Amino acid sequence: MNVDLTVNGETAVLDVEPRLLLVHALRDNLGLTGTHVGCDTSSCGACTVLLDGVSVKSCTVFAVQASGHVVTTIEGIGDADELHPMQEAFWSSHGLQCGYCTTGMIVSAVDLLQRNPDPSDDEIRAGLEGNLCRCTGYENIVTAVRAAGRAMRDGAARHSVRELMPLHGPTLEPPPSGEGIIPPQFQEAGR
Ligand code: FES
Ligand code: FES
Repeated sequence: MNVDLTVNGETAVLDVEPRLLLVHALRDNLGLTGTHVGCDTSSCGACTVLLDGVSVKSCTVFAVQASGHVVTTIEGIGDADELHPMQEAFWSSHGLQCGYCTTGMIVSAVDLLQRNPDPSDDEIRAGLEGNLCRCTGYENIVTAVRAAGRAMRDGAARHSVRELMPLHGPTLEPPPSGEGIIPPQFQEAGR
């Protein structure tokens, strides 16, 4: 089946099997290996990407379901030359150890701050409850998200994920605070 999607601002046309998961399309077909596979069962959050600006676990979405939509992976959030404030904060706050969970954690945290620019520590923990880390004990992750929120509120953000969305992309409709990770049109695939 043909899949026509926009990934990190660029159009991608793929010929895939209907059963191919979005995470595997990103990693294996497009070489975007910053999106990790930790469990394949919707438990760990390592595969988190933004779909039309909203965080989803890409192991719960078929690639064909993303056709016609906009995907942002960690590679589209920032790179070594221009880190996103969230990436800088994880670095400077030591919000990681092995790093396996980190890309998904950062994508989820970016989504969290889009919906709630000044979250409390409890709100940060709740916002990241779908992302598991087996190394850090989470304390420095919360510190990093707090620091990124401060930096972004202070205007230190050099770009936002919204600015990465192409002008012809779907309108972003952030879910009401506290609602599920998967936008309504993708909810059949489960969280
Ligand atoms: S790989 Fe663990 S939630 Fe997707
Ligand atoms: S830093 Fe190792 S799993 Fe989170």
